[in-house]
Amino acid sequence: MRDRISPMLTEAQIAARVKELGAQITRDYAGKDLVVVGLLNGVYPFFADLTRAIELDCGLTFMQASSYGGGTDSTGEVVIKKDLDCSIQSKHVLVVEDIVDTGLTLHKVRNLLLDREPASLKICTLLDKPSRRKVQVPVDYIGFPIEDKFVVGYGLDFDGKYRNLPFVGVYHP
Ligand code: IMP
Ligand code: MG
Repeated sequence: MRDRISPMLTEAQIAARVKELGAQITRDYAGKDLVVVGLLNGVYPFFADLTRAIELDCGLTFMQASSYGGGTDSTGEVVIKKDLDCSIQSKHVLVVEDIVDTGLTLHKVRNLLLDREPASLKICTLLDKPSRRKVQVPVDYIGFPIEDKFVVGYGLDFDGKYRNLPFVGVYHP
């Protein structure tokens, strides 16, 4: 039912911004031992594009946390479904997320990873909905700040669907 989706960010807009973020991250982490941690599932296209725009020999790995049930509203409970498969001790960690909404997911993931004594921990998100924040979490790299709209595409889903749209659009239920 793609007629429920109105375009917000085009493929070209996303690609241009992802290149800029990759260049900035490349400069900021030059000479450092970097591990990029992607939060599954929503991050998959952003992670693939962003990491290919980072011109460093970094480690790449994934975690999965979940705070959403079926619909468009958070349950507030964050569960770690898949943990890292490598040590991050003394490494520079960049956590990559598709969207920061209430902040609850990243708050939990950040505290969990900080306990493992990385050299540093920063967060990069494609989209940020600052007006929805329930808990403050420092976000260091932001692709696009957006209004409080439920969006799908480029990894973001509604009820498991629309992740494979190449653009980001607003979902109208
Ligand atoms: P938070 O814990 O509330 O910050 O939510 C983070 C997660 O909620 C994201 O990784 C997404 O999976 C999901 N989410 C939040 N807003 C949206 C949206 O507008 N569309 C699709 N998923 C969303
Ligand atoms: Mg997600």
